[in-house]
Amino acid sequence: MLKKSWYVIVLLILALTLVLAACGSGATQTTEEPAATTSSQEAAQPTEATSSQPEAEAVAGKVGIVLPTKDEPRWVQDETRFQEALTAAGYDVEILFSQGDSAKEKANVEDLITKGVKVIIITPQDGSAAAAAAEAAHEAGVKVISYDRLIRDTDAVDYYVTFDSLAVGAQQAQYLVDHAEGTGNPLYLYAGAASDNNAFIFFEGAWKVLQPKIADGTFVIKNSSEAVALQDTADLSRDQMAQIIGQITTNWDFNTAKNLAEANLTVATAEDKGEVFILAPNDGTARAIADAFAADSDVSNYYVTGQDAEKASVQYIIDGKQSMTVFKDVRTLVNDAINAAVALLEGNTPDAQGSYNNGVIDVPAIQSPVVTVDKDNVKAELIDSGYYDASDFTGLQ
Ligand code: BGC
Repeated sequence: MLKKSWYVIVLLILALTLVLAACGSGATQTTEEPAATTSSQEAAQPTEATSSQPEAEAVAGKVGIVLPTKDEPRWVQDETRFQEALTAAGYDVEILFSQGDSAKEKANVEDLITKGVKVIIITPQDGSAAAAAAEAAHEAGVKVISYDRLIRDTDAVDYYVTFDSLAVGAQQAQYLVDHAEGTGNPLYLYAGAASDNNAFIFFEGAWKVLQPKIADGTFVIKNSSEAVALQDTADLSRDQMAQIIGQITTNWDFNTAKNLAEANLTVATAEDKGEVFILAPNDGTARAIADAFAADSDVSNYYVTGQDAEKASVQYIIDGKQSMTVFKDVRTLVNDAINAAVALLEGNTPDAQGSYNNGVIDVPAIQSPVVTVDKDNVKAELIDSGYYDASDFTGLQ
């Protein structure tokens, strides 16, 4: 009797469970129904978006970024733009600075490897010295993306995101050419750091435009005997460029640039001055060099180039103290780097549009265009475009 009632109870429980299960699956079906009514194309979209934009957790802690120094606004700008893009995508990524020191840079890379990253985005302080850090990453199975500057002399680089650096130099030089009249115009040449591959590409781009104008007498080089010795050579070898750069390098350092400009002005005669044309490699050095030339009473007018569209130089351009800059939209470079990192994380090959030889291999690369900015288009290119706020500057027209 007792057995029979237990049997009935068990049957009742089973029946109840089946009823509840049926209700449960019915509830699930109800939530699925709206999806079933959308077209298959619409329904496919979220899946596609997910695969091109992985979940934040899939990226968190798997990518690390190493930038060269906080002492130059250019790299603080990159940090800010990385942070903006990463926050928007919900990615948690660590950004470290090497403070101009290749040993610190290697320690940063090792730190990220220890923390378990799978991709490192790195702007080398010194292109060749960074090879050891890149190789350490590869040995640990970590992919390496060279960001803006190429890591040289190693096969341990997977991808390179860069601006068109040849165009940067060419546009700087073209600006000087476009503002020079007649012949015998004094030309002062300055370059970046010889340890930075870009310094060669910028100079190469500039030389291609300037050399014919030196050969035809438009310009006369005033501050480099090495450049004068090679002024009839249209295409310079890397060694020849190294000879010139060795004499006119700023090392990307404001004080070095200022001291070199002052030393050049000290030995130059009054005839070497008047209206002068100055190839300055970037904004930071341009401001330092411009200040030195502005302080020389024998300099009646100067044209000076730059690059990076740093805020301080944008203000200098508005104030007529720097002639031009080459605007490199860092947001594009940042997006290219993040897309490449995500592709590598997913085991894919990032899209490349060519390659750069780093002395050992051709590194697949993606390259972004650059824009010449001077007083005439500074507002349109940098303010109206939303890159900077008007309130960051004074005297904007
Ligand atoms: C970058 C420039 C920068 C310079 C100094 C170069 O490699 O391309 O944008 O001004 O380094 O940091």
